Parts: sequence; structure tokens; C-alpha cells
Amino acid sequence: MADSSESHPKQRSRGKSTAVHVPVLMREVLKYLDLQTNHLVVDGTVGAAGHSQQIVQRIGIEGLLIGLDRDPMMLQFAAEKLGDEPNHVLVHSSYSELPEVLESLNERVPNGQVDRILLDLGLSSDQLADEERGFSFESDGALDLRFDTSVGEPAFELLRRLDAGRLEQIFRDYGEERFARPIAERIAEKRGKALRTASDLTEVVSAALPQSVQKTARKHPATRVFQALRIAVNEELTHLDDALKQHLFDSLARGGRLVVISFHSLEDRLVKQTFRGETWQNLTSKPITASPKEQRMNPRSRTAKLRAAIKK
Ligand SMILES: C[S@@+](CC[C@H](N)C(=O)[O-])C[C@H]1O[C@@H](n2cnc3c(N)ncnc32)[C@H](O)[C@@H]1O
Repeated sequence: MADSSESHPKQRSRGKSTAVHVPVLMREVLKYLDLQTNHLVVDGTVGAAGHSQQIVQRIGIEGLLIGLDRDPMMLQFAAEKLGDEPNHVLVHSSYSELPEVLESLNERVPNGQVDRILLDLGLSSDQLADEERGFSFESDGALDLRFDTSVGEPAFELLRRLDAGRLEQIFRDYGEERFARPIAERIAEKRGKALRTASDLTEVVSAALPQSVQKTARKHPATRVFQALRIAVNEELTHLDDALKQHLFDSLARGGRLVVISFHSLEDRLVKQTFRGETWQNLTSKPITASPKEQRMNPRSRTAKLRAAIKK
């Protein structure tokens, strides 16, 4: 964890830049957060601060927004968006380390607990546009896929290290990819040769898929494989599971609200199971999804599921 005002070694030096990410389910997020002036709010996945910008306006100068992100580049976007507003602080951290973050802010968060927590999981469109980390299929940047390139292992190393069986499992479990086995086998065959960039991987995936699938696919045929690898290298489900089991609950005041937007069935299942527990009052018996209009205007919103609960 590091305050984002410290310069991070891997932080890209961008000039002023405009974030392209369009936040999903904004109206619904604000409804379920039910904000008041002077609330202490954690945006655990602040990204380009699309949601946070609305939050800071509603909590006023007596409130405080604590924005976390694992990606230093996104914290830079957030800092630009939130400007000089005095009621926010940005921290380079995973939301799974929230208790430590709140402890480090003990002058502003006296008992280590806040009134509201928001998580908007997954990838930002601004990360997708970052050519250097290989999030987009055709990029010639290294196939890295990490939110924070200072920790863990880049995706190209993972592809080199894991055997076909383990890769198949990752593509099936995290990507729900029907052709997990032939894709994993192709990658394993390639192991000796360089498979370093996003476009290298796209080529291998395409070659492993039947022609008919490639022609009729509504999404890019490599979408599921990229998603699966990203979830694996960032250990996204481990962070979410750890946080839901304990850290988010401990960091919320009684009567406080947790709102989570997920984009993957495994994530949504973890959230659903947590909110069914007896320590939570579940506010959404079914997940809230984007309206047809939002889905048309912002395709990312099509798979978004929002759930909310109150800490009893
Ligand atoms: C969908 S974007 C959030 C967009 C944001 N709500 C907005 O409106 O601009 C998800 C963000 O969560 C970050 N992220 C993913 N896992 C994280 C974690 N465990 N802790 C903190 N940030 C995380 C990603 O780096 C990304 O910036």
C-alpha cells in the first residue's frame, strides 16, 4: 500500500490525459449508496473516478472519499478527475488491504470504519486502451495483463510456465471458454517459441478455434481467453473472496452499506453468497442490471450485475 502522492516506480508519466471509461449503473450506484453529507466513503476500485466524482459532490467538504486502486496509472486518471477537491484521498492498494489503509488514515477515519463501500470490479476501458500492457487483442505491447506491474508475474510468463492441463482449467473456469482444451494445447505446443505480445496470443487462439466459430462469434474470439488470463495473473477472485469474507465487513460501520458491481459469474456468486449471510441485510434479492438504453450506449454494462447490502 502506498499513498498515490508518492511517485510510484512503474507509474507512467502521462501528461494531462482524458479518461475514456464510462461508468456503469451510475443512477443505481447512487441509489443504493444512499449518500449523505459528511459520509466516509471508500471507492475500492476508483479507476478513472467516474463514480467517485459523483460521490465527492454528494458527501460535501465534511465527508471524505478514500479511493483505492491497484493500478498506479488509474490513480493518476482519478487524481486528474477529482482535482483539488479537499474531500478525497487516493491510495495505491488493493481493496483487500482496506483495514490497513484505514488504519493509516486514522486521523481522518477515527475508528477504522466507514459508512459506505463501493466496488466496481474488473477492467477499466482506460486500461484496455493502454498499449503497453497487452489488454487489447491486437496490441504489440508485452502480454502483461497485470493491474500493478510491480508485483506478481506477467501473463506471458504464466503461459510459458503452466502446462496444458492447468491452462485449460484457467480458460474454462475464469473464461467459460468452450474450446479451452484445444487453445491450451496450442499454447503448450508453442512454448519453445516466443509468445510475448497480445497479438501473438490472439493469433494462437484464432488458429485453435473452428472457422465456423470465428465467423459467427459476436465477441472477439479471444475475449474469454484474455479475461481468464487477466483474472489469473491478478488473482482477482482471491482478492474478492478475502475481502468479502472479512475485511470489507470489518471496515464498515454498523448500518453501513456495501455496493458491488461484478462482470463475471464467479464474482457475482461470491457476492450473492456473502449477502445471504446473517450479518448482512440484503437489499437486492436479484442482481440489478443495466437498462436496455444503457446497454445500447455502453456495451460494457451488458454483463454488469449490482448487489447491495447493509451491515447489521
Ligand atoms: C471497472 S474499473 C472501475 C471504474 C470506476 N468505477 C470509474 O467509474 O471510473 C475497475 C478498477 O478496479 C481496479 N482494481 C481491480 N482489482 C482491484 C483490487 N483488488 N483493488 C483495487 N483496485 C482494483 C482496476 O485497476 C480498475 O482501475
